Amino acid sequence: MSLTKHAKLNAWIEEIQAMVKPENVVLCDGSQAQYDKLIKEMVESGLATKLNQEKLPGCYLFRSDASDVARVEDRTYISSKTKEAAGPTNNWKAPAELKAEMKALYDGCMKGRTMYVIPFSMGPVGSDIAKIGVEITDSAYVVVNMMIMTRVGSKVLDVLGTDGEFIPCLHSVGKPLQAGESDNGKWPCAPIEKKYISHFPEERTIWSYGSGYGGNALLGKKCLALRIASAVAHEEGWLAEHMLILKITSPEGVVKYVCGAFPSACGKTNLAMLIPTIPGWKVETIGDDIAWMKPGKDGRLYAINPEAGFFGVAPGTNFHSNKNAMISAQKDTIYTNVALEADGTVWWEDMDAPPQSELIDWKGNKWNLPASGKSEKGKEAAHPNARFTAPARNCPAIASEWEDPKGVPVDAFLFGGRRPSTIPLVHQAMSWEHGVFMGSIVGSEVTAAVISDQVGQVRRDPFAMLPFCGYHMGDYFAHWIKMGKANPDKMPKIFFVNWFRKTKEGKWLWPGYGENSRVLKWVCERCDGKGDAVETPIGFMPTATAIDRPEGVTVEDMNELLSVDKAGWLAELADVEKNHYPKFGDKLPQELRDQIKIITERLSK
Ligand code: OXD
Ligand code: MN
Repeated sequence: MSLTKHAKLNAWIEEIQAMVKPENVVLCDGSQAQYDKLIKEMVESGLATKLNQEKLPGCYLFRSDASDVARVEDRTYISSKTKEAAGPTNNWKAPAELKAEMKALYDGCMKGRTMYVIPFSMGPVGSDIAKIGVEITDSAYVVVNMMIMTRVGSKVLDVLGTDGEFIPCLHSVGKPLQAGESDNGKWPCAPIEKKYISHFPEERTIWSYGSGYGGNALLGKKCLALRIASAVAHEEGWLAEHMLILKITSPEGVVKYVCGAFPSACGKTNLAMLIPTIPGWKVETIGDDIAWMKPGKDGRLYAINPEAGFFGVAPGTNFHSNKNAMISAQKDTIYTNVALEADGTVWWEDMDAPPQSELIDWKGNKWNLPASGKSEKGKEAAHPNARFTAPARNCPAIASEWEDPKGVPVDAFLFGGRRPSTIPLVHQAMSWEHGVFMGSIVGSEVTAAVISDQVGQVRRDPFAMLPFCGYHMGDYFAHWIKMGKANPDKMPKIFFVNWFRKTKEGKWLWPGYGENSRVLKWVCERCDGKGDAVETPIGFMPTATAIDRPEGVTVEDMNELLSVDKAGWLAELADVEKNHYPKFGDKLPQELRDQIKIITERLSK
């Protein structure tokens, strides 16, 4: 019997079923009963641990295979028809070749397992900006996470009707079961050389094999909402971005919507949920990772958060860095690879207090905090990329309009990275092209914690999209330029921020977290044509008194945070010209080359 009323969807399901040969097929209806049943089965098999239901109601812990803990960029492909279309910064294989390789792995890979069919909507169900996907997976862990991160089930099939458009997303954890074997309690996955995260942008299809980790397996997120959606947005004239969306309200009740792109590990989730330190100001959350933006009838850009949950990094999250995230993850949350306390609560590095008991670490072993009071690198209790999957509705700061199908009109874009030197606390672009230039040079300085041979160098991650752009990055820059040209007066203002400046001695110059609201206040003022600013060679900057000084920041610190480091900027521009822009070849828009010239000339005057 057909699973749905949609002939094309049924045909796809049957085609995949014939290839992967599952024991049975289950359609996900999005109900709580189905969610509970899957969780119960995973607790019974030992894959999930039921946490303390008094302190953490509806929360469960999963431990992944030790090798399957992060996105696998080396195994991620943009398989467009031509290599040129994928561009020099994406892995590419010809679609026919990649499909042949993957079909050999998919053949019979779901033997003995259930094949789940998950209809999901990225964005409020039925919104003009939303898109529907259908994920086929053999992982019940993926199903329950998708039910938090996206809108799942019958209501999506209703919108899809009999012939609506959907994006097919195929996922398997891989490694077919042998006769008599079962997955019971195990986290199956394939070895790295057999993992594939493949995107076919022209066909709008995703094939993922061999990993159960979120970014590789919850295909609505990075795969659909960024890689496929960015290619679709390029074609259709909108934007799919790796951006948070926040709402900020002044004491007078003036509302602004701000989107921000920052590379991983720059506190995007923290900024999205910030609690302002300045009296009378309010920040509310719309999204913490992805923004889809379309021009409205009035020419402004309207943004939705295509997701319905947060897939946040646990270590480093605490009541100081992100109280709202801590509260969001206190019920109905799935924890992956955090440590377990004896009382059935969870712990991770940099939580507010040391563990209360001997822990079970993310690998399932007993773990005690070393006498130094600090975890040893590589021997942490929680994996550094341990995650919480929490429903967005749990967030105390969620904005009432976060599910508005029309989206919210964007007033400002922020770009930033971890830059201990050169980049000031905040500066504003003088033109749209200048703003696109700012986005194109985003990056973080490599610290000793990452890779040693590049320490001190800036690892560029333009628009924080390098791992997520589904087409040629040069065309992506051109698309941004074009979007602004179409409606220059209606476009959001663009700002470059840097919370991570340090003194030569290595002391933080800016306290960050809630104090970042002081910078957001200036951003809001500038959007209204107010806010004291001076014109400098690198853009508009706040005057010495335009941003209130937080406690502990001296006048000298503030001067340093808001000065133009001429030599540093000349070196920055030279680095961009010599080492960064050449990567994009002929496709780099002339407007961006021009910006290097313009800013260099202004600095040299
Ligand atoms: C994420 C990422 O998981 O950007 O959001 O890596
Ligand atoms: Mn992200």
